[in-house]
Amino acid sequence: MASYNISIIKGDGIGPEIIDEAIKVLNAVSKKFDINFNFTEYLMGGCAIDECGNPLPQETIDGVLNSDACLFGAIGGAKWDSLPRELRPESGLLRFRKEMGVFANLRPAMVYDELVDASSLKPSVIKGVDIMVVRELIGGIYFGEPKGKDDFKGWNTMVYTVPEIERIAHVAFKLAQKRSKKVCSIDKANVLDVSQLWRDTVTRISAQYPDVTLSHMYVDNCAMQLIANPRQFDVVLTGNIFGDILSDEASMLSGSIGLLPSASTGLNTAVYEPIHGSAPDIAGLGIANPIATISSASMMLRYSLGEEKAAEAIDNAIKKAMKDGYRTGDLAAYDCVEKVNCARMGDIIASNI
Ligand code: IPM
Ligand code: MG
Repeated sequence: MASYNISIIKGDGIGPEIIDEAIKVLNAVSKKFDINFNFTEYLMGGCAIDECGNPLPQETIDGVLNSDACLFGAIGGAKWDSLPRELRPESGLLRFRKEMGVFANLRPAMVYDELVDASSLKPSVIKGVDIMVVRELIGGIYFGEPKGKDDFKGWNTMVYTVPEIERIAHVAFKLAQKRSKKVCSIDKANVLDVSQLWRDTVTRISAQYPDVTLSHMYVDNCAMQLIANPRQFDVVLTGNIFGDILSDEASMLSGSIGLLPSASTGLNTAVYEPIHGSAPDIAGLGIANPIATISSASMMLRYSLGEEKAAEAIDNAIKKAMKDGYRTGDLAAYDCVEKVNCARMGDIIASNI
């Protein structure tokens, strides 16, 4: 029997609630496909600050590095917002990504047919949208030096080296080969030198993928095109901060940010998490949508563990729950047959496995 060590970081806010449902579904997968999962929990974010005074304890770094993959909930909340920046949950997350070497962040944005009315855009614009944002995650302005702030000015630096651009470009082109063979690379090369280097490097790497068509777009135009005509995009390749912004925008095409998963892969291990945050306003109420996290577990099976059949079973179980009209509160206005809470949605998806 295949057996995997999965590190679990529940985090803050709704993190524990949504992770519990993903574990429920993985346990159903375990029975059906005869796969063994050993789950080990680690602390990170606000709960780690409360418990050990550090948003990213060393034990978490070591534990996750030694696991086959990590399933991650969400971190942060108002309670910790007044701490100095380097002690905040978000700093822990950035350090975590760096330690794990997860330079490639894959953020799909797809539209479930059943929810085509849930988007704020017209069904005719979004039906069939299936985008994969490939965001560089451990470089760019998030990490560049020099950075700082005094009483008069604040500064950060957007830096990319050629090897950093090359490795993320390879990820995007390889993904495109398995999809519709199109990459659109997003930059601000009309203004930024770092973007010109990005564009030149991506263009050079594209020669190694003659079956993939490469186009380039400025980030401001991309923000507009995502709303105007999102179906033109397949793989969208971009740097850290542009990817942060564009992936939130793309997520809204699907109708709810509560639906979308992500994978962060790279050098040392891989981390799977919903693209939404810890939603402190609804934490503890049991009403969060667990689908993004359950879908992240599916990505984990597919990309880290090579368990494609099990991943497909989860994807189909989610689709069936949608088709049967089960909706958490965020989507209850759209073709809802029964409004359900977080745990019930987990039960339904688990039983569909
Ligand atoms: C994300 C989040 C993070 C980011 C924050 C919480 C640091 O917005 O994962 O998109 O900016 O990368
Ligand atoms: Mg973000």
